[in-house]
Parts: sequence; structure tokens; C-alpha cells
Amino acid sequence: MSKHRPKSHFLWVLLCLFVWAFAAPAFAAESGKIQAKPLVKKSAADTAMGKKCLSCHGAEDDPGIYGEWKKSTHAAKSVDCYDCHKSKPGDKAAYEHHGATIQTVVTPLTCARCHQAEVAQQQRSHHAKAGNILASIDNLLGEVIGGPAAVNAGCLQCHGGTITLDDKKRPTPQSFPNTGIGRINTDGSLGSCSACHARHSFSSAQARTPDTCGKCHMGPDHPQIEIYNESKHGILYRAKIDEMNLKSKKWVVGVDYTAAPTCSTCHMGATRDQKVTHDVGERISWTLRPAVSTKLNMIRLANGDEFDQPEGKALPAIGDAIKGSTVTEILTWEQRRDKMQDVCAACHSKRTIAGHYKQFDDVVDLYNDKYAKPISAMMKELEDKGYLSKEPMDAKIKWTWFEIWHHEGRRARHGASMNGPDYTWWHGIYEVAQHTYFKWIPELKEVVQKKDGNEDFANALLDKYFKPIAGHDWFFNGMGPKAIEEVRRGYEDRYGKGSLK
Ligand code: HEC
Ligand code: HEC
Ligand code: HEC
Ligand code: HEC
Ligand code: HEC
Ligand code: HEC
Ligand code: HEC
Ligand code: HEC
Repeated sequence: MSKHRPKSHFLWVLLCLFVWAFAAPAFAAESGKIQAKPLVKKSAADTAMGKKCLSCHGAEDDPGIYGEWKKSTHAAKSVDCYDCHKSKPGDKAAYEHHGATIQTVVTPLTCARCHQAEVAQQQRSHHAKAGNILASIDNLLGEVIGGPAAVNAGCLQCHGGTITLDDKKRPTPQSFPNTGIGRINTDGSLGSCSACHARHSFSSAQARTPDTCGKCHMGPDHPQIEIYNESKHGILYRAKIDEMNLKSKKWVVGVDYTAAPTCSTCHMGATRDQKVTHDVGERISWTLRPAVSTKLNMIRLANGDEFDQPEGKALPAIGDAIKGSTVTEILTWEQRRDKMQDVCAACHSKRTIAGHYKQFDDVVDLYNDKYAKPISAMMKELEDKGYLSKEPMDAKIKWTWFEIWHHEGRRARHGASMNGPDYTWWHGIYEVAQHTYFKWIPELKEVVQKKDGNEDFANALLDKYFKPIAGHDWFFNGMGPKAIEEVRRGYEDRYGKGSLK
């Protein structure tokens, strides 16, 4: 080998140049899809303007904003105040500020100058669309029955409000601050990146923590953070937080950490085979939100948007024209589930994962088939036959049903999806059952009694919709000694003789 040295040396140099020429751009594209171009291209004037901002917004006058920015990756990469707050004269939100044209509210469009991929994923996701709640029953509850001020400081701080500007082009006090996940911005973009990346540190490490998501994913109707805290995953996350490697630039589950998954691990995080995604719905196979759950296929379009379509409805073909665009990709609910299971597989065996999904699916089926479908059908008959109006929320029984599906039924389904046994049972199916049998059914009888003077139609509905379902037997036939003996025998079949004392 040594005698060929001079020649091979030369070849090595050539080879290295060759590899570099091909690999460098690919590597740049791979490393977070972040194009540093704007940094390279920053003009001397912009650099000077960025420095000028700090002459007034430095540590003395703005310790909070300056301090968080100064420690951030952005500051280290010389992304400054002006890079984000810069605007163009003529932009809706642009105003003159000490010699610069700036905007107060920084939208995903600004971030997209340097983080195109993240913004594209976020814009097509359910998160970006969370401001579109105007037509919902919840919104009627909020606006009409609750009151607009509560919607503004409540709903819209999670879902996102519409930014409005005053005559000086500054955001109005009733619309800002707002970092709702689907905020409607003046430039037509949706959402707010600081919903998860608090300003002005804009850090991945902070966004990876479950508490980031817990600001919104909590409470009686979607207690994901409470469920997570109850789960083994949440327990281990807190017990082993120093092993989570949260500050690592690269954060691949099973490679950079194994202690526990966080919300973002499962819904957004990278695996050996998947990249980080800001499209949080990509790995979900069910929707657990509506009165009756369905599995969802995802359809992606050439215009960058996507939408869900319930299982059972015929799928379009790639290339079909739909919603003013064309179909480019279809993720079936099975493929979405595979993506989630690929996350689990970093830490669990196939058997554990399949077992989890079996137990989860069974709870959704139980809730759907025993409670949600028959009650929905009876509520519809009550409306169709004039026992109830078609208007929302104007009768006690409508509130009871709303709480059964929107609160208790969701809690049961959410609990089962993410390993929160207390939410599946005590805060979940227990309350669904109690309120079905001892609130909803008595109210059904009241509603019918009030119109007809007797309960016949109520009993007919129950006979039609509940009686054929074995799970409701005990309600019709009671739990006499015979039924109890049967339960006892069933129990012993399952858990062995003598297991029931
Ligand atoms: C000469 C001092 C000075 C300079 C230079 C300066 N600012 Fe300011 N800035 C202020 C003061 C004072 C306020 C608070 C009063 C106001 O809102 O105008 C402020 C407010 C702001 C606000 C909040 C506006 C709002 O609607 O509440 C932003 C954003 C801002 N500055 C960004 C910048 C940026 C970006 C630069 C550099 C291009 C910059 N500033 C340069 C003094 C300055
Ligand atoms: C990476 C982009 C980015 C950089 C860099 C940046 N900002 Fe901001 N700034 C934002 C975002 C996002 C918001 C939140 C506004 C919103 O709700 O969208 C914000 C909000 C603000 C606000 C109003 C909110 C408040 O808390 O009072 C001020 C003032 C401000 N920035 C000043 C600055 C100054 C000064 C610097 C430089 C030291 C700076 N920003 C650097 C993105 C940035
Ligand atoms: C002028 C270009 C530019 C703009 C505008 C910009 N960024 Fe960045 N951002 C960068 C660069 C460069 C990095 C560092 C990338 C790296 O290290 O690979 C970065 C890193 C990040 C990180 C990871 C930082 C960490 O420490 O974990 C986040 C999160 C982020 N940006 C969010 C945002 C958000 C949100 C906005 C808009 C409010 C924004 N950026 C606007 C250039 C920019
Ligand atoms: C604490 C934050 C928070 C508040 C306050 C809040 N929501 Fe939500 N809302 C959420 C989250 C998180 C979800 C998604 C839950 C899930 O996926 O399980 C959601 C889901 C919804 C949905 C279902 C959307 C769909 O695609 O199925 C509607 C409609 C809705 N909210 C309306 C409202 C209205 C109207 C209000 C006020 C009257 C309100 N929400 C208050 C966080 C909030
Ligand atoms: C729902 C919460 C959430 C929102 C909203 C969000 N991010 Fe992130 N972002 C994260 C999490 C979590 C990570 C860390 C992912 C990881 O490394 O596992 C992250 C990482 C990043 C990174 C680092 C590079 C990468 O892909 O790992 C950038 C850049 C970034 N986000 C930009 C943005 C921009 C721009 C927006 C607004 C369009 C945004 N994010 C909105 C949660 C969010
Ligand atoms: C171990 C992985 C894992 C963790 C950790 C996790 N999730 Fe989930 N999440 C799931 C699975 C699995 C589902 C159900 C997926 C399906 O439908 O197939 C789900 C479903 C959801 C849904 C959809 C609910 C609906 O109403 O349709 C939301 C929202 C959600 N998770 C948010 C969160 C939040 C917020 C956290 C942290 C507080 C979190 N998740 C933690 C795995 C996880
Ligand atoms: C500022 C509030 C807010 C934060 C923070 C937030 N979310 Fe959400 N999230 C929502 C709302 C509201 C929805 C319902 C959107 C809709 O369907 O209209 C939602 C929906 C979801 C869904 C269901 C998506 C689908 O396609 O059905 C998942 C999964 C989810 N969020 C995960 C997360 C994770 C993980 C985090 C943290 C990294 C997080 N969210 C942070 C408000 C938030
Ligand atoms: C980063 C590693 C990691 C990931 C990813 C992960 N888990 Fe776990 N999981 C654990 C650990 C550790 C435990 C605790 C095991 C124990 O209790 O001894 C656990 C516990 C569980 C349990 C309870 C097991 C029992 O015996 O009580 C279930 C069920 C579970 N995980 C399901 C899942 C599912 C489903 C996914 C994917 C959606 C997932 N996990 C993703 C690490 C992980």
C-alpha cells in the first residue's frame, strides 16, 4: 500500500472533494431541515438594525425578553430581534418603530423563512385549525350561555383567537396576548409557535416536557396530562427526569433516551425510522372526541392541507380532485397506528403493544356500542317525534347527554388510550353508567311523561335500543341471586376456583 501512497493521497483528496460536494447539501437538508440561508444573506443594514434594537431592549430595560433570547440557540446563531419582528411597509401589521418597520405579533410565516418543514406540518395539522370552533355546541355554550369574556380569556387562550389591530397597527388588548394553538393571524397564517416554544428561549427541550402540552390538554373533557401523570410513563418521566436527555439536540427514542416517553415522544418525536413531526394527528387511529368514536383515515392534498375521513367511507385515489386540490397521499388508520406502534417498539415487545391496543379498542367499543350509539339514536327519536326541540342545550336531558359523551365518555376513552386506569373507570365508565341509568333514563321518562302523560314511549325506546344489548340485562332483569351466581361463576372461570370470596 505504501508504494502507492502519493497517487492514493491524491485520489483521497479527489474522493473527499467528491463526497463533500454531494454530502454537504444532503447533510444540511437532513439536519433539522433548517435552512440557514437567511442568516448567510443577512445584509449589513439588517445586522446593524438588529444591534440597534438591543440598545433599548437590552439587559437593563428588558431583562426578561433579552435574558431569555441571549441564552437561546437563536442568539448563538445570530438570529436577532429584527430577524423575527421585521416587517415590510404595507403589511397589515407593520408599523414604524425607531427607524425600523416591525410587527409585534410574530407568526408562523416569519418562522417559515428558516423552518419551512415544521411550519408546513403545523399548518396542515388539527392544531392549526383549532380556531375553527365557532360552529360547535361548545361555542354556543361559551358565547351564549356562558358569556363572551369567558370565551376570550378561556376557550380562545387554548384554541386561538383572531388577532385584530388598532389604528396604529398594534394588536388590540382584547385580542392580544393570545398564544392559542390555532390563533388566526393577520397575515392569513394559523397558530402560534409560542403555544409550545415559550418566547424568547424558543427551545426544543422545554417543548418536549409534558407540561407544555398540559396547558391545554387537561381538565374534565380532555385530561391527557392527568392521565399521563397517573400512567407508568408519567411516573417514570418524573422519577428519571435526569435521564431524559431533554437538552440533546437530537432526541431519538431508544437512541438518545429510554427512561420514559413524553407526550411529544409519542405524538411528535423521532424514532430510528421516523422524523420529528409537527403534525400531531399523524399517529392517531381513532378520534376520541365526538359522541361516537370512529377510526380515521388521513388524506393529504397537493396544496399542503390534509383532512380526516371516517373509516368506511370510500377512499379517493391518489391524483383525484378534491376540495379544490388533488390527493397526494393517503394514510389509512392502520398506517397511522403503525406509526405510533413504531414509537412503542423502542421500549416494548410486540405482545405488550398489541395487548395495550386490544384493551384500548375494547373500551372504545364498549363505550360506543353499549352507551353512545343507542343513546344518540334515542335522542334523535325524541327530536324527530317532537319530544325535544332541535335546538341545542335547551333541556336538562341534553346537558346530561352532553356530559356523558363530552366529559365522562371522553375521559374513559382517553384513559384507556394512554394508560390511566382511574380515568378509564372511576372518572370514566363508572360515571357514564351512573349518569345513564340514574340521570339520563329518569330524565327520558320525565320528558315523555310531560308530553304524553305517561311513560310508554320512553319504555318503548329503552326496549328497542337498550334491551337487545346484553350489558343492560341487569337493568331490566335486576341482579337476583341467580344473576349474582352467574357473575360469580364467570369470575371463577376467568380467575380460578375460590377466587371470589
Ligand atoms: C430607541 C429605543 C428603541 C429602539 C431602538 C427599539 N425599541 Fe422597541 N420599544 C421601545 C420602547 C420604549 C417600547 C415600548 C413603547 C412602544 O410600544 O412603542 C418598545 C416596544 C417594542 C415592542 C412591543 C410593541 C407592542 O406592540 O407592545 C416590540 C416588539 C419592539 N419594541 C421591538 C423592537 C425591535 C425589533 C427593534 C429593533 C428593530 C426595536 N424594538 C428597537 C424602544 C425601542
Ligand atoms: C425567533 C423569533 C423571535 C426573536 C429572535 C425575537 N422575538 Fe420577540 N417575539 C416573538 C414571538 C413569537 C412573540 C410572541 C408574539 C406572539 O404572540 O406571536 C414575541 C413577542 C415579543 C414582544 C411582545 C410580547 C411581550 O412579552 O411583551 C416583545 C416586546 C418582543 N417580542 C421583543 C423582542 C426583542 C426585544 C427581541 C430581541 C432581544 C426579540 N423580541 C426577539 C419572536 C421573536
Ligand atoms: C432567520 C432565521 C430564523 C428565524 C426567522 C427563526 N429561526 Fe428558529 N432557528 C434558526 C436557527 C439557525 C436555529 C438553529 C438550528 C440548528 O442549530 O440546527 C434555530 C433553532 C430553533 C429551535 C430549536 C432551538 C433549541 O435550542 O432547541 C426552535 C424551537 C426554533 N428555532 C423555533 C423558531 C420559531 C418558533 C420561530 C418563529 C417565531 C423561529 N424559530 C424563527 C433560525 C431561525
Ligand atoms: C384548557 C384549554 C381549553 C379550553 C379552555 C377549551 N378547550 Fe376546547 N379543546 C381543547 C383541547 C386540548 C381539545 C382537544 C381534545 C382532544 O383531542 O382530546 C379541545 C377540543 C375542542 C373541540 C373538538 C374539536 C374537534 O376537532 O373535534 C371543540 C368543538 C372545542 N374544544 C370547543 C371549545 C369551546 C367552544 C370552548 C369554550 C367554551 C373550549 N373548547 C374551551 C382545549 C380547550
Ligand atoms: C404542539 C407543540 C408545538 C408547537 C405548536 C410547535 N412546536 Fe416546534 N417543537 C415541539 C417539540 C416537542 C419539539 C422537539 C421535538 C423533538 O426533538 O423530539 C419541537 C422542535 C422544533 C424545532 C427543532 C427542530 C426539530 O424539528 O426538532 C423547530 C425548528 C421548531 N420546533 C419550530 C417550530 C415552529 C416554527 C413552530 C410554529 C409553526 C412550532 N415549532 C410549533 C413542539 C411544538
Ligand atoms: C406512550 C405514548 C403516549 C404518550 C406518552 C401520550 N400519548 Fe396521547 N395518545 C397515545 C395513543 C396510543 C393514543 C390513541 C391513538 C389512536 O387513536 O390510535 C393517544 C391519543 C391522544 C389524543 C387524541 C385524543 C382524541 O380525543 O382523539 C390526544 C389529544 C393526546 N393523545 C394527547 C396527549 C398528551 C397531551 C399527552 C401528554 C400529557 C399524551 N398524549 C401522552 C399515546 C401517547
Ligand atoms: C395552546 C393549547 C394547546 C397546546 C399547548 C397543545 N395542544 Fe394539542 N390540541 C389543542 C387543541 C385545541 C386541539 C384540538 C384541535 C381541533 O381538533 O380543533 C388539540 C389536538 C391535539 C391532538 C389531536 C390531533 C388530531 O389530529 O386529532 C393531539 C395528538 C395533540 N393535540 C397533541 C399535543 C401535544 C403532544 C402537545 C404538546 C407537545 C400539544 N398537543 C399541545 C390544544 C393544544
Ligand atoms: C421510552 C420508552 C417507552 C416508550 C416509547 C413507551 N413506553 Fe410504555 N412503558 C415504558 C416503561 C419503562 C414502562 C414501565 C414498565 C413497568 O411498569 O415495569 C412502561 C409501561 C407501559 C405499560 C404498562 C405495563 C404494565 O405492565 O403495567 C403499557 C401498557 C405501556 N407502557 C404501553 C405503551 C405503548 C402502547 C406505547 C406506545 C404508544 C409505549 N408504552 C411507549 C417505556 C416506554
